[in-house]
Amino acid sequence: MNIKSDILQLSKKFFEETHKKSYVPGQDYLPASGKVLDAEDVMALVESGLDAWLTAGVFAKKFEKDFAQFMGQKFCLLVNSGSSANLLAFATLTSPQLKERQIKPGDEVITVAAGFPTTVNPIFQHGCIPVFLDVSLDDFGVLTDQLENALSKKTKAVFIAHALGNPYDVAAVKAFCDKHNLWLIEDCCDAVGAQYDNKKVGQYSHLCTVSFYPAHHMTMGEGGAVLTSDPQLKKIAESFRDWGRDCWCPPGKDNTCKKRWDWDFDGLPEGYDHKYIYTHIGYNLKATDMQAAVGCTQLKKLPGFIEKRNKNYKILRAQLESKLKNHKEEIIFCDALPKASPSWFGFPITLKEKNRTPILKYLESQKIGSRLLFGGNLIRQPLYKGQNFRVIGDLKNTDKIMNSTFWVGLWPAFDESHLNYISDHLVKAIQG
Ligand SMILES: Cc1ncc(COP(=O)(O)O)c(C=O)c1O
Repeated sequence: MNIKSDILQLSKKFFEETHKKSYVPGQDYLPASGKVLDAEDVMALVESGLDAWLTAGVFAKKFEKDFAQFMGQKFCLLVNSGSSANLLAFATLTSPQLKERQIKPGDEVITVAAGFPTTVNPIFQHGCIPVFLDVSLDDFGVLTDQLENALSKKTKAVFIAHALGNPYDVAAVKAFCDKHNLWLIEDCCDAVGAQYDNKKVGQYSHLCTVSFYPAHHMTMGEGGAVLTSDPQLKKIAESFRDWGRDCWCPPGKDNTCKKRWDWDFDGLPEGYDHKYIYTHIGYNLKATDMQAAVGCTQLKKLPGFIEKRNKNYKILRAQLESKLKNHKEEIIFCDALPKASPSWFGFPITLKEKNRTPILKYLESQKIGSRLLFGGNLIRQPLYKGQNFRVIGDLKNTDKIMNSTFWVGLWPAFDESHLNYISDHLVKAIQG
């Protein structure tokens, strides 16, 4: 008897017999987003559990290699969430090893206020000053013509997310960063697979980040990644991720450097074990091998998930354009910039005049999930009250997003009938 293969086959059977396969509009809740798992994912999870390795191991190694390739980057560091990825990416740039380019407390970082807080939090967490720019209401992208206005002698970096999978003009942002010798971090948590000018997002920046929370394009429950093609940044990020140590041995391995007791660090006893030499004030942000195992099987399906979300965007958009009379007077759709190929995360709508809350309550009563553009205008949220930041202009569009924007789902589990149901009720809610 092959116990392992029996357990895996039983896991498959269990999943197929117990997992919900179809969602009936009106009867089942249609979430704004969610994971799509199959028996293969659950079998990978069980297999990694049976290995009983638990910490990052063979699956994590494979995932990091394959995901780096998918994103067109040299290196991928798996972490335990997208927020941890943002923290790690920013922390990396505070390393003294970066010499005069090291980000220090009091330095400024250009970003936007329309979005998710953990894109901005690392800036505050390192004693730096966010400088908030407004975004366009047509695509939610940063207003790149205002970048120069945000610049000061203290500016060290730009750190901006591609909101809801729709790329901003990252080529213009990169040109600005190159001109002024600034670091660029792209938060691609909502935008895996999106492209700008035929190049995947994430490739424009020094470091980019991804989330594998269930709402995102692929999942491992909790999880995230930092990607880069710069070997020095990879080494520093790995150190910050793994307790701040200088040693780079993977879990369970020793003496990868082949000189474990032969390093010479100023102030340390001769021959001090490299495993316990620390060069950064780091964290432990590693993920487990069970998460990575699910990541490996989800990654195979990622191109299909992205394609389905984009297809669903097109269908819902066409349905709404035909069903909503005079839609231009009622709402603003979110459009892609001419050179952008989005990897849509959700379907955003901005109401021109109407009050949003009754619309969202109506959708909820019809079992249709909705979400806001996360924190709206983050500077109005309680968390940044009394904090030190600068604002460029009046953030008028960011305020409009806070008051009037919402999004509904493009979940890959939806087909035309679900989207038809959603668009029917959206039209009812908006036009009465
Ligand atoms: C743009 C953006 N960045 C970061 C995050 C945080 O990711 P996580 O939930 O994996 O911490 C999110 C979460 O949805 C997000 O939308």
